[in-house]
Amino acid sequence: MLVTLKELLQQYMTSDKAVGAFNVTTYCDAKPVITAAEKKNAPVIVQVGGFATRYMDLELWGKLLVTMADRSPVPVCIHLDHSKDVEECQKAIDAGFSSVMYDGSQLSYEENVRLTSEVVRRAAQKGVSVEGEIGSVAYSGTDAYKAEASDPDTVARFVADTGVDAVAVAVGTLHRMETQAAHLDFDLLRAIQAKVDIPLVIHGSSGLCDEDFKQMCATHVTKVNIGTALRMAFDKGLRTALNDHPESNVFTEIAHIPMQYVEDKVIEKLGLLGF
Ligand code: G3H
Ligand code: ZN
Repeated sequence: MLVTLKELLQQYMTSDKAVGAFNVTTYCDAKPVITAAEKKNAPVIVQVGGFATRYMDLELWGKLLVTMADRSPVPVCIHLDHSKDVEECQKAIDAGFSSVMYDGSQLSYEENVRLTSEVVRRAAQKGVSVEGEIGSVAYSGTDAYKAEASDPDTVARFVADTGVDAVAVAVGTLHRMETQAAHLDFDLLRAIQAKVDIPLVIHGSSGLCDEDFKQMCATHVTKVNIGTALRMAFDKGLRTALNDHPESNVFTEIAHIPMQYVEDKVIEKLGLLGF
């Protein structure tokens, strides 16, 4: 069933579980994400960003993912990830997404508040949830995005100034890590959650070690973004399958193999998130 971020996350603020938010790029990884959630009887957030919209527009993504969510017995939130464009958020809202992220993390505080608030205003008209970001989670392999740990007082001010439903904070992770070598700053995380009363979001969780996953579930972190680990799983499955099937025209014969790799990875991560 399709759910919004707001209605999904609230119950996990005080539980020992957190909800996995998985970045997908095609039907072939969206399907195993939802299958894995159903097998674990877990709620799930399916999110699309630039890698996904490169090949398929938001209107089509909305129709596909909302239909998949409606058909599923588990709660599924359909979320636009890391949008830096108010009009793109509007397209996702119009396409039926139940949640959008406006990412103003690279802007000044004032611009971030102004544009995030505009998305909150538009989303509210359709009952859609909004995630914002304050502080900045950088990206491995590029310095195009600043690394800036979130300041607890500034997070509190940002939440009050924008009215977002969930807030992404920078507390030790880095996007696109291919090894699980990152550690969370739990003192900073606790200082933040003492000041705000809404769900917290961790980006770049592919790089997070298993031990921190478990500890994180006991905090107000309720949305845990995982992208790179899934793409690596799909890639490994596809390469293995192609290697085992050197003949041509094989995709229809082997597609289930990378899909299974993704399903297994999601099941593993959902286990670390308490499901
Ligand atoms: O917004 C997406 C996530 O933060 C994914 O990050 O690819 O490093 O897991 P990741
Ligand atoms: Zn992210």
